Amino acid sequence: MDVSTAPGMRIIACCNHKGGVGKTTCTVNLAAGLSRSGWRVLAVDADPQAHLTASLGLAAAPEEGLSGLLDGRCGLAAALIRDDGLDVLPASAALAETETRLAAAGAPIGLLADSLRSSVGHDAVLIDCPPHLGQLARQALYAATDILIPMTPDFLAMQSLAWLMDTLAELAASGDAPAVAGVVLNRYSAQKRLHREVKTLVESHFPGMALTAVIRENVALAEAPSFGQDIFRYAPRSAGAADFAALAVETAARLRLPRPAAAGGNP
Ligand SMILES: Nc1ncnc2c1ncn2[C@@H]1O[C@H](COP(=O)(O)OP(=O)(O)O)[C@@H](O)[C@H]1O
Ligand SMILES: [Mg+2]
Repeated sequence: MDVSTAPGMRIIACCNHKGGVGKTTCTVNLAAGLSRSGWRVLAVDADPQAHLTASLGLAAAPEEGLSGLLDGRCGLAAALIRDDGLDVLPASAALAETETRLAAAGAPIGLLADSLRSSVGHDAVLIDCPPHLGQLARQALYAATDILIPMTPDFLAMQSLAWLMDTLAELAASGDAPAVAGVVLNRYSAQKRLHREVKTLVESHFPGMALTAVIRENVALAEAPSFGQDIFRYAPRSAGAADFAALAVETAARLRLPRPAAAGGNP
């Protein structure tokens, strides 16, 4: 990965080839948490299912958003939506065709990286990756300065994590991805022995990887997308909001995000 990003700008890919582990939930709410703490954040929807876009109550026309950007129809400034302090590069179902086209044309791996490099004024870019390692995920991993892996605390997820870590290490060795910055345990319950055991396994197999902040099972996190709102807007006093506020603080420290220029709302 040889991307020369703007000074201090971090590009964080939320990635796991498993579906339903919380990639979109983490991208939306970590982006919102960082944004509310004053960082200038861009959330990128790199999944043709467009769940991040829908979760924020937004929509992209087929020729716009990330499709338009990767197909060369528009630049970054025209492709993104400014949403109350958080910039969003939205997706639509058209992104699936874009991915097929990119693969067929043998598009350069640095296409997304080059576009994000032209980002002006963002401290952090968070990319919601699709649940398979196709063109879009590879573009996202190549563009990234850091990888965050959300996972659920069960044993099959632990097995998948080992495979994913190997794959990411191979990509990192070939220069096509950065090293993994951390693993976020999602839907975690400290009362469940299985969850505690999986956390211990992650910590022993991948030292230093598990973030201290965990995301608990919280119904407000599941409800918020149907209202098109992040957790801080939908349920600011929920356990979900508290967990994502803590995750934002820990992630900012771990990735050494430069101090925000201005404080936003209250996480
Ligand atoms: N901590 C949580 N508590 C409750 N529901 C959650 C939590 N994390 C995710 N969900 C719900 O689980 C489903 C899958 O999460 P999602 O973020 O879409 O996963 P992915 O993007 O990895 O497929 C969604 O319906 C989401 O609202
Ligand atoms: Mg998703």
